Amino acid sequence: MIKFKNVTKVYNRTIKAVNNVSFEVRGGEIVGFTGPNGSGKTTTIKMLTGILPPDKGEIKINGFDIKKNMIQAKSSIGYIADSPDMFLRLKGIEFLNFIADVYKVSNDDRKKRVNELAERFELTDALSSPMMSYSHGMRQKLMVIAALVHNPPVWILDEPMTGLDPKSSYELKEMMREHAKKGNAVFFSTHVLEVAEKLCDKVIIIKKGNLLYDGTLENLESQHLNQTLENIFLEMTEN
Ligand SMILES: Nc1ncnc2c1ncn2[C@@H]1O[C@H](COP(=O)(O)OP(=O)(O)OP(=O)(O)O)[C@@H](O)[C@H]1O
Ligand SMILES: [Mg+2]
Repeated sequence: MIKFKNVTKVYNRTIKAVNNVSFEVRGGEIVGFTGPNGSGKTTTIKMLTGILPPDKGEIKINGFDIKKNMIQAKSSIGYIADSPDMFLRLKGIEFLNFIADVYKVSNDDRKKRVNELAERFELTDALSSPMMSYSHGMRQKLMVIAALVHNPPVWILDEPMTGLDPKSSYELKEMMREHAKKGNAVFFSTHVLEVAEKLCDKVIIIKKGNLLYDGTLENLESQHLNQTLENIFLEMTEN
């Protein structure tokens, strides 16, 4: 459902943020994307979602080329950015209606989905208040609801659990599992290795724009017997 092939991105003609990286995410898979700060995760995610054009390579979402069939590709994506601080002057419900309009979600469908998701994240009462008054975690929850309001098959999430309380973080993880179980794809970046360990079918590790590992955690652990995941990660990503 996600195809990322030989993709390179260079900023300001000097910083090679992503260097000839390839990976795939199939339907039914939850894939964790990790690596040290500044290793190219957000850059990769911005290219996957069509926000940044790659310098080289091919990107397909749900069979659609992100450049040639941009609208179809983007309609297939539920995207959570790495910062939830946007459109702060809007009330929560105004923001959700705006996003639902962009994705052409019918009134009935949006009501049903917004009610269901807001209940799940205990955000129902806050929807009538301006986002300016929200805590970081409340803004993050609203971004999750906005990303899912059009019921997209492919979820691309940049550090989605950041700032969520344990209940909301649990709900989101459950939703990721349910989504993948239906044959959809979930791709998310995280610094929390325990989350990757519990949730993911495979992990992708990137460092300084280069892909270091793409496979199951069991396989990674079997290559480094008697080491904790943390130690394996530190060893792989140290200079
Ligand atoms: N707009 C930009 N202009 C110039 N350089 C950038 C820009 N955005 C990112 N970079 C550089 O590209 C590299 C990769 O950054 P990126 O944000 O993709 O990392 P990341 O893996 O998401 O990091 P983090 O874990 O901190 O979120 C870094 O060296 C960063 O300084
Ligand atoms: Mg990032």
